[in-house]
Amino acid sequence: MSRTIYFVASSIDGFIATPEHSLDWLLTRETDQNGPMGYGPFIEKVGAIAMGSATYEWIRRNLETWDYTVPTWVFTHRDLEGVSGADVRFTQDSVEVVHRLMKEAAGDRDLWVVGGGDLVGQFADHRLLDEIIVGYAPVTLGEGQPLLPRRLELRLLECAPNGELACARYEVLPTN
Ligand SMILES: NC(=O)c1ccc[n+]([C@@H]2O[C@H](COP(=O)([O-])OP(=O)(O)OC[C@H]3O[C@@H](n4cnc5c(N)ncnc54)[C@H](OP(=O)(O)O)[C@@H]3O)[C@@H](O)[C@H]2O)c1
Repeated sequence: MSRTIYFVASSIDGFIATPEHSLDWLLTRETDQNGPMGYGPFIEKVGAIAMGSATYEWIRRNLETWDYTVPTWVFTHRDLEGVSGADVRFTQDSVEVVHRLMKEAAGDRDLWVVGGGDLVGQFADHRLLDEIIVGYAPVTLGEGQPLLPRRLELRLLECAPNGELACARYEVLPTN
């Protein structure tokens, strides 16, 4: 069954990037992509992706290639440049509409909401978030872009070390 998952790495005080959108605190960490809750097995099951424009712009600024082969929706109110040869769809539609389109594209595969935290919160506001998989890096940042600025009740499904990260998988519990 298709699940909507927030797969992310965070500082232990709950930030996914510095105030200046740097990931320097994360990119130096040793991890095993194919280890517990690693990126390798996760991405194999993903059939559609959503992200906010700051995350998209970080990827375009910092990575030489666009490695996603599945359709990707980028939420923005601006006119951003796409990626040649890639299925990138800029949108201002509601998360409910985009989630429906993602499910149609993904079939039985999972949906990955990459971030940032508030966009994931918008999916959660509409009860469209099923799971959170977070790898905690051994660092505090003190300030930055928040992991998930909402109050949600979660159930711990799994936790394990992966290299320097402490990884945990949670089910998002229904709210009243
Ligand atoms: N540590 C990790 O694993 C991880 C994972 C993901 C992201 N990150 C990083 O964390 C940072 C996240 O940045 P962020 O918190 O600013 O989040 P973001 O979600 O990437 O970008 C926020 C922007 O998305 C657009 N947006 C959000 N909701 C929208 C909606 N409903 N409709 C239309 N547009 C919408 C708006 O852009 P416009 O101004 O264009 O309208 C908004 O300013 C980035 O630096 C990213 O690289 C880290």
